[in-house]
Amino acid sequence: MTDSIIRIGLFGLGTVGQGFLRVISIARNAHAEIARICVRNLAKPRNIYVDPKLLTTNADDILSDPSINLIVEVIDNAEASYHIVKTALERGIPVVSGNKAMIARHLPELIEIQRSTGAAFLYDASSCGSIPVIRNLEEYYDNDLLLEVKGILNGSSNYILSRVFDHGQSYADALASAQALGFAEADPSFDILGYDSLFKLVIITVHALGVYVNPDQVLCHGIAAISDFDIAYAREKGWKIKLVAQVVKVSDDKFTMFVMPEFVSPSKYIYSVDDEYNGVVIRGECYDRQFMFGKGAGALPTASSILSDVMARRHDYRYEYKKMSYIGRPDYTTDVELQVYLRFTDPAVLDAIGFTAIDQRYTSATASYVIGRVSAERLRAAADILARPDVFLCNIPRFFLDRD
Ligand SMILES: NC(=O)c1ccc[n+]([C@@H]2O[C@H](COP(=O)([O-])OP(=O)(O)OC[C@H]3O[C@@H](n4cnc5c(N)ncnc54)[C@H](OP(=O)(O)O)[C@@H]3O)[C@@H](O)[C@H]2O)c1
Repeated sequence: MTDSIIRIGLFGLGTVGQGFLRVISIARNAHAEIARICVRNLAKPRNIYVDPKLLTTNADDILSDPSINLIVEVIDNAEASYHIVKTALERGIPVVSGNKAMIARHLPELIEIQRSTGAAFLYDASSCGSIPVIRNLEEYYDNDLLLEVKGILNGSSNYILSRVFDHGQSYADALASAQALGFAEADPSFDILGYDSLFKLVIITVHALGVYVNPDQVLCHGIAAISDFDIAYAREKGWKIKLVAQVVKVSDDKFTMFVMPEFVSPSKYIYSVDDEYNGVVIRGECYDRQFMFGKGAGALPTASSILSDVMARRHDYRYEYKKMSYIGRPDYTTDVELQVYLRFTDPAVLDAIGFTAIDQRYTSATASYVIGRVSAERLRAAADILARPDVFLCNIPRFFLDRD
């Protein structure tokens, strides 16, 4: 593609799509033009001027146009996104996408299609907005030294927790201000229940360790049930609570991954990742820790990442998924012991989860909690119980493999 003009078929003209029109208009070296834009509703008012002749609601106007040599897919519907991306790759058209929900569920099939047709699929924007975590994991960390990728991958929940811990707002007020500012959707469950972080973690794990894990097999607990009691508990210790996603090697041949609120002490890099920002800590043998910080969402930060992938296609860049064929890839396990704080009101919750050991126990008229050890598998299997509104679970971080 190096010498030719990139003719882009754009799917989606919402937050990211409009941001992309802005960044592409100032990207002098992209040598790219928007050939067609597919949206859901032609009559919808837009914040930017778009030549009406470019707009269509028919996906095939893009997918069957032989002059279009790159598709940028930024729609908000995972099912439609899957059909668009799959069809494009099957027809040999490269695609850039930011749709984490779709990618996390369909990546193995989309990798196979890339291998059979040779069409490239790039998606750095899916996993931390403007932070180039995927391409770095794919290229720079292409060795056996990587031990852990851990961080704050969701800007909305981080904004809410920052308002609570740094500005003294109640959780309900913080959620309302996140929605008013557009950091959280009208239905914020995708963010605050942890699924957005989970989907990003699944994608990150493919590029970190070369292993795909279905999101349904991963322990995922969000911040929806956090209470003033939990907040006061953390404050008393000088900690913050953050929603943290992590993939971590627990031995030479095993790794685990989960999304859970975590008590974070001031000595940790992610302690200072506030508001809608994301932060990712990469830990490895021989080099200890590295930290990437930046905007994980929003029109222009996300569009910058899409532009970077478009530019990468100009140089025929593609993910090679090299780690997927490495010898001795680690296996995913949930058979690991975690140390957690569990707050509940009904004692049956504690019995149902089945801790291996309880180190601390507190009971009062308003709330009870335990701090104890429990396997990740027990917690994963108890997802229904943990989803009760009177139950809050928080990780107390531990090192699994200390090789620094
Ligand atoms: N917003 C962020 O900060 C951010 C960050 C990283 C990744 N992402 C990902 O980027 C994608 C887009 O997010 P967004 O925030 O820009 O969403 P958005 O503001 O809700 O916009 C979605 C766009 O998709 C269009 N659309 C929906 N279904 C369609 C279909 N079947 N065919 C054609 N167009 C369709 C809509 O058309 P109409 O305008 O006509 O309704 C709209 O323009 C999502 O996958 C999201 O997860 C977003």
